[in-house]
Amino acid sequence: MDAGLEKVIAAETVLSEVDGKNGHLVIRGYTVEDLAQTETFEGVIHLLWSGFFENLPAVKDLRARLGEARVTAFEKLAPHFGALNHDTEMENLRTALSFTQDGHSLNTAISALAAAAVCTAARARMAVQRAPLAPDARKSHAEDLLAMASGTRPTPEQSRALDAYLVTVAEHGLNASTFAARIAASTRAGLISSVIAGMSALKGPLHGGAPGPILDMLDAIGSIDHAEAWISEALERGERLMGFGHRVYQVRDPRADALKRAMRRLPRSAGRLSLAEGIETGILKKLAKEKPDRKLDTNVEYYTAVLLEALGVRRQSFTCVFACARIAGWIAHAQEQISSHRIVRPSALYIGPAAQRAADRSNH
Ligand code: ACO
Repeated sequence: MDAGLEKVIAAETVLSEVDGKNGHLVIRGYTVEDLAQTETFEGVIHLLWSGFFENLPAVKDLRARLGEARVTAFEKLAPHFGALNHDTEMENLRTALSFTQDGHSLNTAISALAAAAVCTAARARMAVQRAPLAPDARKSHAEDLLAMASGTRPTPEQSRALDAYLVTVAEHGLNASTFAARIAASTRAGLISSVIAGMSALKGPLHGGAPGPILDMLDAIGSIDHAEAWISEALERGERLMGFGHRVYQVRDPRADALKRAMRRLPRSAGRLSLAEGIETGILKKLAKEKPDRKLDTNVEYYTAVLLEALGVRRQSFTCVFACARIAGWIAHAQEQISSHRIVRPSALYIGPAAQRAADRSNH
């Protein structure tokens, strides 16, 4: 029995290799650092989906189809925006995806990406009492997502930074949400169902829900001078420090630095990079001292929080923006799982009582 499944290999994949010992992430033969600096999100969708859809168009045409799909998604979702009033934005996003017709086609896959971006942006506007804005099919996915969410035209540096973020987090091996997506796919449930399964797992604070609380932590610490005392008290209360530790990486998560690099391309006035770096140093020092048996280092979520804040994304929307990117990976994994022709069905070790007479239950 292996409760966390860490020693279980449950799939073969051509999509990515997560080398936790050395801190490398290779996505279909390219390092994440390389992709983050040179590729667009549309280029990475193409990279991930190649070989999984027969009719996959070239990157330029894929970008155009994604743009058109955003316009269609906006028309379809607009009548329902008012009903999206759950407590968290991930619940709203999950509900919005349910309005999308399920299926196994490339169109369904593109619709999932489009619906997620449109809903995330619309909800960001509604949260500040503004009307949702229609997409512009000519823009890149990253630029349009920022423009729809903020109501202003993003600078090329801002669009490029969000693009680098979407590229960096699009795919990451058999993490909890990808496994959930693959399980749904293995039953032939459809791509939208697989994406919703992935979203449901991503939502939790130990997975994709970490970046919002990371900003809460930066706010609570306030300045580097207060960091040491605050960190000690949090650890004494038995709290986990969000943005640190990873199931696979025993060293620094390479995506943390890819995002830091993207952040450095923004004007120095954007965000709180130097505060975050100072607090990170304090936390790493303290974790090494307090948890010597477990190597805990910075994970992707720490600089996700800092970068998305600098781009003006509301912290309540961070996990949704993560999902907007990871849908590309979930869909590739869903297609790969389907092609393995095997339903995922592990076993459980029964530790309950032995069989008894059901009639005796009437006394209860
Ligand atoms: N802060 C303080 N202590 C920690 C942290 C942390 N961030 N992470 C792990 N530990 C400690 C725990 O105290 C644990 O000891 P315990 O069992 O006595 O409580 C010990 O290290 C081992 O922890 P595990 O739970 O075995 O580590 P695991 O590999 O299962 O968990 C996880 C990984 C969930 C990411 C964990 O490190 C964590 O909770 N981190 C904070 C949340 C976070 O940043 N999540 C985002 C991850 S990246 C992503 O999902 C995209």
